[in-house]
Amino acid sequence: MTNVEPLPYVYDALEPFIDEETMKIHHDKHHQAYFEKYMSAVTGTEFEGKDVTNALQNLDKVPAQIRDVVRNNGGGYFHHSFFWKILKKDVSCTGPVADAITTKWGSLDTFKEKFKTNAMSVFGSGWTWLVVNEKKELEIVTTLNQDSPISSGTKPILSIDVWEHAYYLKYQNRRAEYIDAFFNIINWNVVNELYQAAL
Ligand SMILES: [Fe+2]
Repeated sequence: MTNVEPLPYVYDALEPFIDEETMKIHHDKHHQAYFEKYMSAVTGTEFEGKDVTNALQNLDKVPAQIRDVVRNNGGGYFHHSFFWKILKKDVSCTGPVADAITTKWGSLDTFKEKFKTNAMSVFGSGWTWLVVNEKKELEIVTTLNQDSPISSGTKPILSIDVWEHAYYLKYQNRRAEYIDAFFNIINWNVVNELYQAAL
């Protein structure tokens, strides 16, 4: 089995907000496991060799006997690849997405409050997303487990992983602190690119 793609930066690139040990385990163990299970499931199907988004956007076409495996592990594979990409220290929120956030929520701070409230309310394991919905509007949504926002036709531009494996080593049960730390490591440049591509 091949390896999932490497992180786009070194393991300690997000210190002190996300620690090196968490990044190693999160990427090398969790992300890798999702990748391996997904790749193994689609071997010999029409989804072999295609981008994982293809399967997630067409779950109804995935053979029934592997659909749950693909939803969970294809989701886990895609979501982590996405998540690594939108993280970087010291990028300020500017550009079209900053304007759109201000238009929708009044201010960046109010958006952060709403996003945090959503992420705090995820019961069990899941993700909070900022997506561009089918009306081309920004929306904050939750998905449980590894269910994907792309399976329901929205276009994600930002996410936070609120599975305990994403923060437990450093923050234990203090999810609120992890979410506050997350706001320091959003790569708004990438979020802007995703936002413009989604429109
Ligand atoms: Fe995760």
